[in-house]
Formats: sequence, structure tokens, C-alpha cells
Amino acid sequence: MDGTLNLGPIFQPRSGDSPLVEVGSSAVLERRSMASHERVLSGKEEWLTPKEITDVLGPFDLDPCSPIVRPWSTAKTHYTIKDDGLKQLWHGRVWLNPPYGNETEKWMARMAQHNDGISLIFARTETATWFDSVWPVAAGLLFIKGRIAFCHVDGRRAGTSAGAPSCLIAYGQSNAERLKTCGIPGRFVAL
Ligand SMILES: C[S@@+](CC[C@H](N)C(=O)[O-])C[C@H]1O[C@@H](n2cnc3c(N)ncnc32)[C@H](O)[C@@H]1O
Repeated sequence: MDGTLNLGPIFQPRSGDSPLVEVGSSAVLERRSMASHERVLSGKEEWLTPKEITDVLGPFDLDPCSPIVRPWSTAKTHYTIKDDGLKQLWHGRVWLNPPYGNETEKWMARMAQHNDGISLIFARTETATWFDSVWPVAAGLLFIKGRIAFCHVDGRRAGTSAGAPSCLIAYGQSNAERLKTCGIPGRFVAL
């Protein structure tokens, strides 16, 4: 036992993948062979965090952006697109895997303001989102080893891994401590 959590097939190797690719100006992720009815619900991509990740990092008080139909809970309270999570009050320890593309920036700005919880976004460390809402505010980062295979709203794991590496971002020292000791394969960096 080396303290490393085995999350099995969540983290899929890149070799041999039929990759998810960025499509169009909004940079939404789409698997080219996927039927359109699978891709979109209410005009947004519905790529869910594998349950094992939120189970290990939780419990969370709030997920401000969750699907209307979800296969499992990520927090005690969920806001959906019907509530518009950005218009609601945020409370407690937040889990945030925000909508993709141009949407991500607003959600991460709100998370930085809230400053309590853990976020999961692509490790595009050069972007304005990172320079405005991650680097100056976050307490710690866990760069995930390999690429995550996200899930469909029915709980099925995507057949391919994401088109970019992911990073877990801790807001607040206690959340950084959780990332450091959670056992999810990757490299922790304290900020
Ligand atoms: C990348 S998915 C992540 C879902 C979930 N948070 C998780 O970690 O599995 C982003 C979610 O945000 C939802 N969403 C999009 N716009 C929203 C809004 N304005 N308010 C609340 N949820 C929204 C989408 O329906 C989608 O389920």
C-alpha cells in the first residue's frame, strides 16, 4: 500500500484513443462519432465528473451547475440550468465542474470569489481564467495523471478520454489539504 487510490478505468491512457476534439468557437467537447441527441441537453454539454472523484473529495454542500437528470449526487444541494447557478447564493463547500468553453471563465470567477471548495477544469494554465481566478486565489492544485473519461447523464463512462489534461483546484487551505492527501493519481502543487 503506497497510499495511492486506484481509480481504475477513469483515467484512460492516451494511446489508442479516439480522442474528444474541440469543435467550433465555443470549444465544446464532442466525440465525432457521437449522436447529437447524446451530446446536448438544454444546449449545454453534459460531461459529468466520475463519481469516484466526488466521493473521494466530498462531502460537498453545493454543486451550482449540475444536470437536470443526474445519475448520482455530487453535493447536498444542486442547482441546474433551470435555477441558473450563477444567479443563486453559493454556500458552504462547493464542488465545481463548470460548463465548458467561454462559460468556464464566469463560473471560475464566482468560485474564486466564494473561495471555499474544489473545482475541476482543463489544465489550460496560460488562459485568462487561470490568471484571473486560479493563480492569484487558489490554495493548491492537483494535476491529474492521465486523462479523465467523463460520464454521460445516465452514468455511463465515455468511451474515450477528454481532449485535454484536467486539474483539480482547491480554494481554501482545508481543501488544499484534501487534494494533497486524497490519493487521486497526479502531482499536488501548493500555492
Ligand atoms: C461539465 S457539466 C458538470 C456537471 C456536474 N457538476 C459534475 O461535476 O458532474 C456542467 C453542468 O452545468 C450545467 N449548467 C449549464 N449552465 C448552467 C447554469 N446556468 N446553471 C446551472 N447549471 C448549469 C449543465 O447542464 C451541466 O450539467
